[in-house]
Amino acid sequence: MSGGKPGQNFRSGRKRQEAGFHKTKPKVYVTRLIPEEALNKLAENAQYRIWEGELPVPREVLLREVSGVDGVLSLLTDKIDAAVMDAAPKLRVISNMAVGFDNVDVRVATTRKIMVCNTPEVLTDTTADFAFALLLAAARRVVEGERSVRAGKWKTWGPMILLGRDVHHATLGIIGLGRIGAEVAKRGKGFDMNVICYDTVRRPGLEKKLGVEFRDLKTLLAESDFVTIHCPLLPETHHLIGEEQFKLMKKTAILVNSARGPIVDPKALYNALRSRQIAYAALDVTEPEPIPPDDPLLTLDNIVIVPHIASASVATRTKMAIMAVDNLLAGLKGEKPPHIVNPEVLAK
Ligand code: DGY
Repeated sequence: MSGGKPGQNFRSGRKRQEAGFHKTKPKVYVTRLIPEEALNKLAENAQYRIWEGELPVPREVLLREVSGVDGVLSLLTDKIDAAVMDAAPKLRVISNMAVGFDNVDVRVATTRKIMVCNTPEVLTDTTADFAFALLLAAARRVVEGERSVRAGKWKTWGPMILLGRDVHHATLGIIGLGRIGAEVAKRGKGFDMNVICYDTVRRPGLEKKLGVEFRDLKTLLAESDFVTIHCPLLPETHHLIGEEQFKLMKKTAILVNSARGPIVDPKALYNALRSRQIAYAALDVTEPEPIPPDDPLLTLDNIVIVPHIASASVATRTKMAIMAVDNLLAGLKGEKPPHIVNPEVLAK
């Protein structure tokens, strides 16, 4: 793996060519290949090494590579914890190319005055589109239909074949009315859905603007035909949806999760789907990730699982990478990064 070899020079310059040691430019470790445009921008302003493997950088390589770097451009697949920060005594900025940053120990970073940055906003619409794609696919059994065609099972049009659930005029329950949740609400309204929401924070102005009604979590679960999750993964939201919550949901309900896998208890989800406590689930995220091929959830026919691709459009991933580089470079210059999640580290 070229980026992972010990002793390799840091890269600098427009074309990412190998370059000699550069005294003035800060040193950065990039944990995976990211869009070229972002790497070129990074190369103009920093010297970097990169893990070019398809899979996440192995832990021992990460720990070795960060020694001596000023910044890390990380992904949600990299656990950036105290051990990584111990291995990188000069580290000043952790720039995560994701809006979520539950893979970074922000508390430890803050105590060490290390800036942590994320990439909000640029992925909001793309992620909301995808959540809605999952919702539609689950409701109308798109994936099952496609599988049946490939398996040669399409013998005729049939009045009872692959009947799904209507999306229009159904009740959509949104857990987390942040940026992405609000965009999903708009899409729901576009489909003439009755949209309700739950969040730990009330936003009456936004609720009114979107035409969304607030419910407590139990009521939302009981009333919704579709429940879609858009809250961050926090200690308080870990397994927020478990056995008790599934019992409250309609037997016809469809659960969509494009936020973080551990917000849903996977064992409880398996039991709820298998016993038809709920009708269907569509997941972009799982616990763990990737889901092991022998996971019991994969034996069920009433679930669709895709590999964490909600933000995966060419334009959005490019914007995320550029934003991650901009955050990183600003922090390394001693400026306030545009998207810093622990601004308290900048307090004098
Ligand atoms: C994020 O940014 O947190 C998404 O999960 C990946 O795009």
